Amino acid sequence: MLSSNPPLPLLGRTAIVTAAGAGIGRAIAIEWSSRGGSVVVADLRADAAIATAEEINHKGGSAIWAAVDVTDPESMPSAFAAALDGYGQINALFNVAGASLPKRVDEMDDIDWYRMIDINLTSVYRCAKQVIPELRRAGGGSIVNISSTAGILAENRCSAYSAAKGGVLLLTKNMAMDYAADGIRVNAVCPGSTMTPRIQDYLDRLPGHESLLDDLCPMKRYAEPEEIARPAVFLASDEASYITGAVLAVDGGLTAGKHFAIFEDA
Ligand SMILES: NC(=O)c1ccc[n+]([C@@H]2O[C@H](COP(=O)([O-])OP(=O)(O)OC[C@H]3O[C@@H](n4cnc5c(N)ncnc54)[C@H](O)[C@@H]3O)[C@@H](O)[C@H]2O)c1
Repeated sequence: MLSSNPPLPLLGRTAIVTAAGAGIGRAIAIEWSSRGGSVVVADLRADAAIATAEEINHKGGSAIWAAVDVTDPESMPSAFAAALDGYGQINALFNVAGASLPKRVDEMDDIDWYRMIDINLTSVYRCAKQVIPELRRAGGGSIVNISSTAGILAENRCSAYSAAKGGVLLLTKNMAMDYAADGIRVNAVCPGSTMTPRIQDYLDRLPGHESLLDDLCPMKRYAEPEEIARPAVFLASDEASYITGAVLAVDGGLTAGKHFAIFEDA
C-alpha cells in the first residue's frame, strides 16, 4: 500500500541558512524543513530569524535561530555553535545573504565598493571556510551559494554587485574542485527577479511597474521565493549527488538568450 505521508529525505540533516529571516533564505529554510531537515535560521535581524524559526517549529519542523551578520567575522561562529549545540552536526550551508547597490563605478566610493564585495562575495568565503571542517567531520555535505543573474550577465548600474556575484560563481567552481575529494559538493543558484518583500516594497513605490514585465524575462513574471528555494534545496540533497560546480540559472529564461524583436516579423 502506498503511504500518504511524503518521504522525508533530509531527516537527520542540519542546514544553516543565512538571510533566512525573509525572502529567498526564508523560503529555503522552510523548504529544507518540509523535507525533514533541521535548520539554523541565521539573519542580521533577530526578530526576522525568530519569526522564520517559529513558523517552522509551529508546522512541526525543527529550527533554531541565530543573530548573524555575515559581514562580521566574529558573528558567524555563533551560528555554527548553535547548530552543533542544537543538532550535533552540520550537513549543508546555504549562503543567501547579499545586497545590491545601483551605482556606476564613478558614482561609488571605496566604502560602497568594499561593502558590496564584502556582503556578496567575502561572506561566501567566510562562511564556507568556517563550515568546511564541520562538513568534513560529518563525512561530506553541501554548500549552495545564491548568486544572481547579475553574476552571469552584467546589469546596468550594478557594477559592484555584478562583479561580486560573478565572483561567487567562480568561487563556487573553485571550491567544488577543491573539496570533491572530501565529499563536499558546492553549487550556485542564479535567481532572476524574485518577488521577495523587499522587491514588493520597491515595486509598490514605482508607479506603472506592471509595464516592466514584458522586458523582465521570456516568462514575463517574477519568481516566487519558493521557486528559487526548491532548486536550491534540490542541489543540496542526495538527488543531486553527482552535481558539483554547477551554476543553475532560475530566471524564467532571462539568461537563455537575447530576444530580437526584428526576427518576429521576418
Ligand atoms: N530578490 C531578488 O530578486 C534576487 C534576485 C537575484 C539574486 N538575489 C539574491 O538572493 C539573496 C536573497 O535576496 P532576497 O531578496 O531574498 O533578500 P533580502 O534583501 O530581502 O534580505 C533577506 C534577509 O537578509 C537579511 N540580511 C541582510 N543583511 C544581512 C547580513 N549582513 N547578514 C545576515 N543577514 C542579512 C535581512 O535581515 C533579511 O531578513 C541575495 O544574495 C540577493 O542578492 C535576489
